Amino acid sequence: MDVISIRGNGPLRGTVSAAGSKNASLLAMAASIMADGPIALGGVPDVTDVSTLALLLGYLGVETKRSADGVVRLQTVDPSQVTADVETVSRMRASFCVLGPLVARRGRAAVALPGGCRIGSRPIDLHLQGLAALGANIRFEHGTVIAEAKKLHGVEMNLSGLNGPTVTGTANVLMAATLASGETILRGAAREPEIVDLCEFLNSIGARIEGAGGSTIRIRGVEQLSGGTYQVIPDRMETGTLLLAAAITGGDVTVRGARPEHLEALLAVLDDAGVMLDTGPNWIRAAIADRPLPFQFTALPYPGVPTDLQAQCTALATLAEGRSTIADQVFPDRFAHLAELSKLGACVDRCGSTAIIDGVHRLQGDVLQASDLRAAAALVLAGLVAHDVTTIRRAHHLFRGYDRLIEKLNSLGADVVLNPNESEAERRSQRRFSASQVAA
Ligand code: EPZ
Repeated sequence: MDVISIRGNGPLRGTVSAAGSKNASLLAMAASIMADGPIALGGVPDVTDVSTLALLLGYLGVETKRSADGVVRLQTVDPSQVTADVETVSRMRASFCVLGPLVARRGRAAVALPGGCRIGSRPIDLHLQGLAALGANIRFEHGTVIAEAKKLHGVEMNLSGLNGPTVTGTANVLMAATLASGETILRGAAREPEIVDLCEFLNSIGARIEGAGGSTIRIRGVEQLSGGTYQVIPDRMETGTLLLAAAITGGDVTVRGARPEHLEALLAVLDDAGVMLDTGPNWIRAAIADRPLPFQFTALPYPGVPTDLQAQCTALATLAEGRSTIADQVFPDRFAHLAELSKLGACVDRCGSTAIIDGVHRLQGDVLQASDLRAAAALVLAGLVAHDVTTIRRAHHLFRGYDRLIEKLNSLGADVVLNPNESEAERRSQRRFSASQVAA
């Protein structure tokens, strides 16, 4: 069980580079099932969710290799495989995104109900509804979804759910629609930059998709998709987390390789908190010398403040000069971090889907337990500024989605150690397995 130990070490200062987007990479990797030639994806972060999907794709006859330059190459070597390994799917929700590509390209898919971060109810009804609308025959067999279709057919549909659009549901359905006959009009589509990136990738290998970034996406089906090379967008959640690390420590950090236009809602929150911001075409600087001011927001689908930054913003609010309120409309139960932050002395309460945080002057290090990826990041941020040592158990959650976060924070002046009771050699050998090893 990975443990992280953090000694509060004052303001972070300096410059770091953003990794490529985890969630955009996962979608592009799933889409590669449909490509008739080799795919080379640049910027794919070296995180365990990517390794897990690489493993799953291996079972599905898609060979995945990561080269030293960080490019991940994917090539179908056995298109007869249509059953996704149950254990691997249970580890990660994004693995459900192989369903649409498999049924569209190979005519059949058997994918177990997905696992993933425990952040509240995560149904898949919209994925299935969308694929059924395209003509897939869908049934359940012992907890596994079986989808079959000789050929999918374009249709007009609305994919929006009670909590708004679904990101991976939109991806699953639009990927399948690229190989359907005729035109699909997807209303209520997710507008996240990762969806836009997926569409740009698919268009680069022959798909005909228009309107990505808006809530109506139009897909004209094509007969086949080719191979190709593509660079995924920078990770806006990692960028946001690093900016929040600067803000919580009273530091001054520039994140290079970032896309400010993908983070406008977060930048507005940071501005409300009194953080000085500066941006260029591919960098963002955040600096603050005093305690943050209190702030309010509701996490919403894009272009709102992302739910994937809600926990980290909550960590910042624990030290604000007054009361902040933070609600989450996307995952109304995503508040497991509150109990852990309170162990550090944070004054937090919850009313339904809203956290109420009364800022305190200081946090005191303690032993915490991470419950999911973004909660883990929030606890790390709090640990950076807490007095003495903060220990975070179940820290493996962090490596699902952050590429070298500890190294990046330490390069900015933090004092974070992975598995402090192990020798340096043990620490290195215990590191997460990379996509290249999975492929071997
Ligand atoms: C994606 O998850 C991301 N994962 C999540 O990031 C992110 O938190 C989430 O979108 C919201 O932005 C990936 O991209 C791999 P949703 P996804 O379907 O697609 C409801 C991280 O930390 N819903 O957009 O699974 C659902 O309950 C991860 O990097 C249905 O009702 O989330 C939620 O309220 C964690 N029916 C809302 O939609 C469905 O069929 C949005 O969820 C599907 C979803």
